Amino acid sequence: MHAAAAAAARLSVWATAQRTGPVQRRGRYVPDSTAHPARMLPAIAAHAIDAYTDPGDLVLDPMCGIGTTLVEAVHAGRDALGIEYESRWSDIADANLRHAREQGAPGRGGVIRGDATALLSLVPAALAGQVALVVTSPPYGPTVHGHVAVGDELDIRDNRYNDGTDKGNLAYRDLTGLADGFAEILRGCAVLLRPGGTVVVTARPWRKRGELVDLPSAVIGAGIRAGLVPTERCVALLTAVRDGQLVARPSFFQLQSVRRARAAGTPMHLIAHEDVLIFAKPDAAPNDGDGDRTSASDDPGGRR
Ligand SMILES: C[S@@+](CC[C@H](N)C(=O)[O-])C[C@H]1O[C@@H](n2cnc3c(N)ncnc32)[C@H](O)[C@@H]1O
Repeated sequence: MHAAAAAAARLSVWATAQRTGPVQRRGRYVPDSTAHPARMLPAIAAHAIDAYTDPGDLVLDPMCGIGTTLVEAVHAGRDALGIEYESRWSDIADANLRHAREQGAPGRGGVIRGDATALLSLVPAALAGQVALVVTSPPYGPTVHGHVAVGDELDIRDNRYNDGTDKGNLAYRDLTGLADGFAEILRGCAVLLRPGGTVVVTARPWRKRGELVDLPSAVIGAGIRAGLVPTERCVALLTAVRDGQLVARPSFFQLQSVRRARAAGTPMHLIAHEDVLIFAKPDAAPNDGDGDRTSASDDPGGRR
């Protein structure tokens, strides 16, 4: 990508909900995709792919759900690999990739069902150092996974990933367990990334008993523990911008809990964005030899 275009693409507020989620997905995703409780908005994945990769690059999503990252990558002429723990979602990701291929998407994509905390045991060793970009989103607590479909009747389902007993799915761990598992996944990603490669993690602020859970800080900590360097913190809007105003698109459950809180005197606001945490893989591995160790600050040539 041209440097000026790349700089423009890296604005810190991403206008990713000018069109609603259903409109973004219509015709591009198989209908079963709507069953997933925490899909990424396609425009968020598309923006990250456009900003941080070039055609032909390889994009990875180690928790790919129904494959939003993969579909947007192959349509943009990138290759894509996804890992997903639940076969229910990996099957839909497969179907979405087939659909993208039938629509003429130029990139190649594939999905592996498995536990991404053991990422390096799932993918060919030859992929080490080949990935340009990781785009992913950790699962967050089941309290955010209510689902509403507006048809002839209002259909409200508590749409969970599985029955909650299988802790291999990080959605069923507490925040510390989630952060530990996510750090493990990012460690694997760091091996697969090429030097200078980028990791984009979206994390939607999440409320537990009315209080915001600081998932973004947990994600930043996990990235640092995995040897990645935090480089940017952006905001992906879940609301449209019209005439300089935000136009909210809350779910039924969000609206209901904000109304209840306000009725009880708590000045709660609707969540209008996802945090986007961006990390880089350092250009060169730190010198782990015991001899001539020179830090960047010792080195007048700025060696890294
Ligand atoms: C927030 S969702 C990702 C949704 C995805 N971005 C999409 O648009 O469909 C997180 C996903 O991580 C999966 N997951 C949870 N634990 C996992 C693990 N250990 N390995 C791989 N995937 C996992 C969940 O099943 C869920 O589909």
